[in-house]
Amino acid sequence: MVKIGVIGSCAVDLVVTSDKRPGAGETVLGESFRTVPGGKGANQAVAAARLGAEVTMIGRVGEDNFGEVILNNFKSNGVSISHVEPVADIESGTAHIVLAEGDNSIVVVKGANDLVTPEYIKQKLNVIQDMDIILIQQEIPEETVVLVSQICAQAGISLLLNPAPAREVDPSVIENAAYLTPNEHEAALLFGGLSPAQALRQYPNKLFITEGAQGVRYYDGRREVLVPAFKVEAVDTTGAGDTFNAAFAVALAEGQPIYESVMFANRAASLSVTKFGAQGGMPTREEVEASLQS
Ligand code: RIB
Repeated sequence: MVKIGVIGSCAVDLVVTSDKRPGAGETVLGESFRTVPGGKGANQAVAAARLGAEVTMIGRVGEDNFGEVILNNFKSNGVSISHVEPVADIESGTAHIVLAEGDNSIVVVKGANDLVTPEYIKQKLNVIQDMDIILIQQEIPEETVVLVSQICAQAGISLLLNPAPAREVDPSVIENAAYLTPNEHEAALLFGGLSPAQALRQYPNKLFITEGAQGVRYYDGRREVLVPAFKVEAVDTTGAGDTFNAAFAVALAEGQPIYESVMFANRAASLSVTKFGAQGGMPTREEVEASLQS
C-alpha cells in the first residue's frame, strides 16, 4: 500500500442550491441547504484513502462541532488523524458554497487552517519523510508551502502541488515540486509571461494543466498530450479537482506511467461529479477500475 501524506485544509462545506446565483446587492430564494465535509486537503486525503492508499493527514481544526465532524469523517474513511491537531479559540475552516446554474461559487474562511504554520510543520518532519508522496494545496499559509517544498526536495520525496485556490507561487516551490496541477487560470498566474504551450514545454512530465471537461494537458518531452476527460452527467463538480489530484498521486506513487496515471485520475474525477457534495461521489478503487474496463 502506498503512503500518501496530505498537508492542507480541513473544512465543513455549507452548501446552498439555488436556480440563480445572486448578484451584488441581490437576494434570491434557494432550494436546499446541507453541511458536508470539505476542504481541499481533507477532500484529497479522503479520495486517496478510498482509492486504497495509506493516508496521513497533516492539518488543524478548531475545538468545535465542525472540528468533530471533520475528525469523525476522516476516521470513517480510514485516514490517519494523529497529525490533525485541534486548536482552542479559533473556528474550524468553512466553505460557503452556492450551487447554481450548473456550477459552484465558493467563499472559504480558513479559520484553523491558517495555523498549519511552518512551526507546526517542523514538528512533523519525521512523518513527512516517511511518505512516498506529499500532496499540498493553497488553503494554508504560503510560507508553509515554501517550507514543505524545501523539506521534500531535501529528503527526495515527490511533492505534488495543486496550486488552488489561485495565488502567486514562490519560484522555489515550482522548482522543488515534482508535479504541478494548475487549472488554466492558476497556470496563467504561475507562469505569467508564458503561454500554456510554452509553460508545458518548460516543465515536461511535471506540469499538468487541468482543463475541466476537456481533460488534462502535459508535455511528455516530445509532444503535447491531451488526456481527454470522460463524459458523465454532472450533479456537483465540487471536489472533482481534489479527486483528480489524489488519484494522480496514488497512481504515481504506485509506479504507474504518467499517461496511465492521468487516465486513472481523470476517470476517478469524472465519477466524483455524479453525486452531491465534495466527497459524496469520490469513488473506491474498485469503482474506478470497473469504470476503466467498461
Ligand atoms: O475543492 C473543493 C473544496 O474547496 C470544497 O470542498 C471547499 O471546501 C473548498 O475549499
